[in-house]
Amino acid sequence: MSTELVQYIKKRQDELDAIILAHFYQLPEIQDIADIVGDSLQLAREASKTSASVIVSCGVRFMAETAKILNPDKKVLLPAVEAGCAMADMVTAEALREKKRQYPQAVVVSYVNTSAEVKAESDICCTSANAIEVIKSIPEDRPILFVPDRNLGKWIEAQTNREMFFWAGCCPVHDQVTIEQVREQQRLYPDAPLVVHPECPPEITSAADAVRSTSGMLKYIQESSARDFIVGTEEGFLYTLENNTSGKRFHLARTDFICQDMKYITLERLAKSMKEEKDLVEIPEEIRERAYQALDRMLQIG
Ligand code: 13P
Ligand code: SF4
Repeated sequence: MSTELVQYIKKRQDELDAIILAHFYQLPEIQDIADIVGDSLQLAREASKTSASVIVSCGVRFMAETAKILNPDKKVLLPAVEAGCAMADMVTAEALREKKRQYPQAVVVSYVNTSAEVKAESDICCTSANAIEVIKSIPEDRPILFVPDRNLGKWIEAQTNREMFFWAGCCPVHDQVTIEQVREQQRLYPDAPLVVHPECPPEITSAADAVRSTSGMLKYIQESSARDFIVGTEEGFLYTLENNTSGKRFHLARTDFICQDMKYITLERLAKSMKEEKDLVEIPEEIRERAYQALDRMLQIG
């Protein structure tokens, strides 16, 4: 069955002239069929330079919206329309406009894990892979209003010593890791470096050997001589690690480290979406244009 689905998806891909982009947290079979598997920055970059007519975005809504903001004339499919991001839902454009009135001098930096409407209210976007470079690009006399992830914000603040105001948002999947869970894994694997995503709480990032975006975690692990690693991010990433390393073993920082929204896209849904072309992402042009400015400024940096 899955071989037939894979064949159908490949055939349909040719007919549509489509590129399939998948995030590291996607199911193994989706990572396997994708043209590009990457972190949110890599996927945005691929979306900005593809010549394909259709972009099939296997991830969550903000990733598909990013592809559409960068490619208004292409069709962008999100094969699971309900795939959202709990952190992105923690900030609305209206609430951000209100906050901007409180901090009129501040430069608004929004994590890409935000809606198109929130990006449209922002000066510049960042991902966890380029956040420090983005912050360093802002004149030193300007304070920064960082939305919505307070954990990522606090980690950047510690690296850059900049004056920052935070939104009270977080990723519920990463924010739940506790130091007790990490200590237990460290007891079981005492030689394993602790490698975590900056969406984890400050007491976890402070205890870590490396704090990196997902692509940064992959690079760190590939370059390390260690055999075991305690990994502080979503479980789908272990499949990526296993595919791109050999002789290494990975242990999640906590059990059930799962983003359910990343698991809605199955081969069946991907095939159906590519057959029907109904799950199209649309963004009003007035919002898209302003969101594009914030994303483009980020892509110019790194
Ligand atoms: P990356 O930018 O590392 O891909 O992370 C995206 C994300 O949603 C993490 O929860
Ligand atoms: Fe959003 Fe967290 Fe899921 Fe990433 S893991 S998509 S930040 S809810």
